[in-house]
Amino acid sequence: MAEDAAAPHVLLICYPGQGHINPMLRLAKRLATKGLLVTCCSSSIVRDKLAAASGVSAGGAGVPVGRGRLRFDFLDDPFDGTELDLHDFLHHLETSGPPALAALLRRQAEAGRPVACVVGNPFLPWATDVAADAGVPAAVLWVQSCAVFSIYYHFANGLVKFPREGDDARLAIPGLPDLSAADVPSFLHASHPYKVLGDTVQGQFRNMARASWVLVNSFAELERDTLAALPGVTPRPPRLIPVGPLVELGVGGQEEGDDGAGAAMRGDLISAAEECVAWLDTQAPRSVVYASVGSIVMLSAEAVAEMAHGLAAAGQPFLWVVRPDTRPLLPEGFILDGAAAAAGGRGMVVPWSPQDRVLAHPAVACFLTHCGWNSTLETVAAGVPVVAFPQWGDQCTDAKFLVDDLRMGVHLRAPLRREGVREAVDAVVAGPEADAMRANARAWSATARATVALGGSSDLHVQAFVDEVSRRAR
Ligand code: UDX
Repeated sequence: MAEDAAAPHVLLICYPGQGHINPMLRLAKRLATKGLLVTCCSSSIVRDKLAAASGVSAGGAGVPVGRGRLRFDFLDDPFDGTELDLHDFLHHLETSGPPALAALLRRQAEAGRPVACVVGNPFLPWATDVAADAGVPAAVLWVQSCAVFSIYYHFANGLVKFPREGDDARLAIPGLPDLSAADVPSFLHASHPYKVLGDTVQGQFRNMARASWVLVNSFAELERDTLAALPGVTPRPPRLIPVGPLVELGVGGQEEGDDGAGAAMRGDLISAAEECVAWLDTQAPRSVVYASVGSIVMLSAEAVAEMAHGLAAAGQPFLWVVRPDTRPLLPEGFILDGAAAAAGGRGMVVPWSPQDRVLAHPAVACFLTHCGWNSTLETVAAGVPVVAFPQWGDQCTDAKFLVDDLRMGVHLRAPLRREGVREAVDAVVAGPEADAMRANARAWSATARATVALGGSSDLHVQAFVDEVSRRAR
């Protein structure tokens, strides 16, 4: 398809972490499928990796996806490669990001494809300011749950008294079940080492009113009570527009008119071990424990050892994602037969998996997950029960949601012990309670698929956004 000069151009920009890149790319595909020209943008630090993963080089015309086109472009945010901690990296983005984004918007206009809307991200609140100052309509893609949005909003506006770590008070927020200190995103705990992230997310509320849309990676059926309660909060928060779950459902899944190019495109920062899917093909239906803690959680050496022994003791085959930075922590001799077979050939250890394909595989019985919001939605959409093993941030709230609200799994509490791993896996794999969890997970999967199918509630919200952007661009 030739580049359609008349197609409205939307630029999505995100923090360069996997948990942010994935929902950005998936929303980009849906928008392109509906006929828009879409540019995905982030820090130059991920330029080469995203080009390798997507097969699309930066700065070009991009590729056709459905009725539209998808391209990549990156901020010119010179980075000397010095190892920066999170605080310093966010500061780097805050200083070099705004002029770089303004320049990028100018370059797009000069190239004959003026940007009709910038879709920012909670970690980059400055993107909304740059767009608004340039007279370009702005949106925000909230990459966590509506529940977490509501908690942060109440916190940022001082609307409720938050329980402190260790006290047993409960937090009452309209539309949410009562929450203990352990259920609240840990960034809000005064002692949390990543408090800078909580501050950054709260910083988003200072200028969210400048955005015309707050798109959220969730769906109306999943968070109905939270969505219904938010408009009654004073001061009134921006309206959340659910456009999720932003997950890959495979070719022919949800993408109306998609020719498959979009469905195949990935944004992995670590290259996925596709061979694990062939290994899953050799396993019995509903037998494999899939374990992963996402892209940033670092377990201690002790926790890695307990996980290894626990998975080996659980008696089920397992597929375990151990990222390259964590691999040195594996117990000596745990990996046999080169990189692949662990625990006497019953397990496979990979540095990164094609998680969407893994969760969709009939051999997978359960997902031992850290409950990042993407993983949470992916397991909901795939209908796979969980062993919930949150570490920090919104993962704590997501775990409560999966286990106590959706009733599709069990908690695995810290400190991690091998017996705990085995017991939790047993509890979600076999027995009447496991059957009930699987039935709940299946029901949620059907609802998740229906909401993104043509005419489903999230699909209609995406279409309404596309229509409004197109109308304003005329
Ligand atoms: C983090 C937070 O935990 C999350 O809650 C927040 O919303 C975004 O930042 P992360 O910890 O990496 O993200 O977890 P998660 O949100 O689950 O995102 C990880 C993504 O990587 C998922 O889309 C998952 O499918 C993908 N993944 C993970 C793989 O494709 N392969 C793997 O082996 C592991």
